[in-house]
Amino acid sequence: MIGTLSEQTIRHLVSAAQEARERAYAPYSHYKVGAALLSADGETYLGCNIENASYPVTMCAERCALFTAAAQGVRAFTAIAVVAGHENEGTGAAWPSPCGMCRQALREFADPGSFFVILAKSPEEYRVLTLEELLPESFGPENL
Ligand code: THU
Repeated sequence: MIGTLSEQTIRHLVSAAQEARERAYAPYSHYKVGAALLSADGETYLGCNIENASYPVTMCAERCALFTAAAQGVRAFTAIAVVAGHENEGTGAAWPSPCGMCRQALREFADPGSFFVILAKSPEEYRVLTLEELLPESFGPENL
């Protein structure tokens, strides 16, 4: 167990993120990312990166999952698993790392100290960090 996360839950989330990554649309970077976000009520929401010919319009996998959940009225989350890699390589070659914008987006709906970010190469090889570790001394809704 890591916090409230069992190993079984972590493996489920990483597998789901790998499945989501298959649907990544990354014709420009060729870097495909998948994410699986676990809500506090136990549902899983998937996301993948979706690029655009106008490059800044691109959406990251993590925010794709977050906004998919939020659009369904879900705003309380426990963990997110992320996998990434070049389209020719699969997910085992390098650790993923959520960009700063996605860390901040997750911060809006997550308690930094108890929300877990699972950085995975496979369901068997992963690192678990808190959002607080990835985004220390963050700015959130309670600062306003
Ligand atoms: N990307 C993500 O989807 N998530 C990350 O954590 C890092 C970057 C995407 C955006 C873009 O489509 C590609 O990876 C290269 O930056």
